[in-house]
Amino acid sequence: MSDRVAHLFPFIPINYLSKTLDWDAVKIGRPPSRSPEIKTHSGLGFNRRKYKNKTCTSTSSRCGRGRPTPVADSNERSPGKEGKHRAPLNSSNIITLTKHTTTMTSNNGYLKNDETFSTRAIHEGNEPEQWNSLAVVPPISMATTFKQDGPAEFKFFEYGRSGNPTRGCLEKCLASIENGKHGLAFASGLAATTTITHLLSAGDHIVSMDDLYGGTNRYFRTVASRMGMQIDFIDATDTKKVEAAMKPNTKMVWIETPTNPTLKIVDIAAVVAIVKKKSDCFLVVDNTFMSPYFQRPLDLGADLVMSSVTKYINGHTDVIMGCICTKRDDLHERLRFLQNAIGPVPSPFDCYLVNRSIKTLALRMEKHMQNGLAVARFLENHPCVEKVIHPGLPSHPQYELSKRQCHGHSGMLSFYIKGNNLEVSKKFFQKLKVFTLAESLGGYESLCELPSVMTHASVPKETRDKLGITDGLIRVSCGLEGADDLIKDLDQALRAVVSV
Ligand SMILES: Cc1ncc(COP(=O)(O)O)c(C=O)c1O
Repeated sequence: MSDRVAHLFPFIPINYLSKTLDWDAVKIGRPPSRSPEIKTHSGLGFNRRKYKNKTCTSTSSRCGRGRPTPVADSNERSPGKEGKHRAPLNSSNIITLTKHTTTMTSNNGYLKNDETFSTRAIHEGNEPEQWNSLAVVPPISMATTFKQDGPAEFKFFEYGRSGNPTRGCLEKCLASIENGKHGLAFASGLAATTTITHLLSAGDHIVSMDDLYGGTNRYFRTVASRMGMQIDFIDATDTKKVEAAMKPNTKMVWIETPTNPTLKIVDIAAVVAIVKKKSDCFLVVDNTFMSPYFQRPLDLGADLVMSSVTKYINGHTDVIMGCICTKRDDLHERLRFLQNAIGPVPSPFDCYLVNRSIKTLALRMEKHMQNGLAVARFLENHPCVEKVIHPGLPSHPQYELSKRQCHGHSGMLSFYIKGNNLEVSKKFFQKLKVFTLAESLGGYESLCELPSVMTHASVPKETRDKLGITDGLIRVSCGLEGADDLIKDLDQALRAVVSV
């Protein structure tokens, strides 16, 4: 087939088109002849060789209609044009290329970061050779369905819920930056949480944390419990409490670290050691506050890492999305089945936006960290502030643990305003000029909010009081503006409402 017409089929791998499409036949309306020779395909969410001639047999892997399940787990690549084959990216061959470069992270005593992170964020799942057009930016494929050769004989994709080329690119990239083997994208962070919980059945027990994102707490307390699951909410910063909470029917341990909004840090490796003693139980880490740039729970032994992509991973406050990554084939297969069977999938357009955002994740996180630390240090010495919570300050109770397990910290911090009451807090928000009063976090713009009446209003009052989520606790998400502007804004708002 000539290059002149190749661009008309941007979503079909080159080798597929060049070997199988009879262009003249298409033009005159005759059914095109197809070659059975295509063996491999990857980067599009479907490992063809693995599933060739194989129908999922276990109910857990059945993709609704006994079709092969689209997966994003292959290291194999579409060969592309002859002579243009690229080796797959992985840590070892990128390290060879970059070992003489200096680290981009001024690591402030944290674990040294992985120099290959940005390279993988930019290239993994985005290989131009996978597209007939050699597009450097993955195209947005809005199709909800895909033409089949014969009844129930599809080439790569069948129906948009079970797999989509744009989502395939994103899921591959997400898996790579979390140091996982598999990535799955969902319509929201809570959709990812719900899907993980569907791995369990009525009667199963979950160990979760007392300090959690309010929506996760609400889902476990009011929805999962109604479905017959038993949930205990404990202080997982004390790992002895995790051990004590485990029961014979415990099937999932769910931790969030740092916690939202009091930024407590859980020792992930210590919880892994507890969970590993029970072969029928798995550990999930909600990594939303850190992003894979600063914390990689799978490397510490967690079974699943989930994130609200809405926050740092997308970082532009214009997409709601969630993701799950894992190194485990068995959990991936079950989750891939649930993703299709339950249906909480993101739109191809949102997948395109997030895939684009990931390209600048490392740069954004470095700046979020600089701004967050500058603001935290400033507030710690401010006469209108009672206390600052930021894991990068030596005053934080798990300062040492944070340095041991993370590569840095994001732009998140919380502080108690003097007076500690709703009226003072409300006036403070009214005075802000650069910060915006709004829920959410992790975007390029700085936001702040009052968890007691906003993000955590659904948490029972006794729990809020116990955790210190008072009307004077303000959660701050430092964006990418100039640090001095952020500091000046907080300073003038504080001085306007608290007399010193
Ligand atoms: C820590 C954490 N986990 C999960 C979620 C839920 O994510 P989403 O809003 O994308 O459903 C949020 C949302 O704020 C969050 O902060």
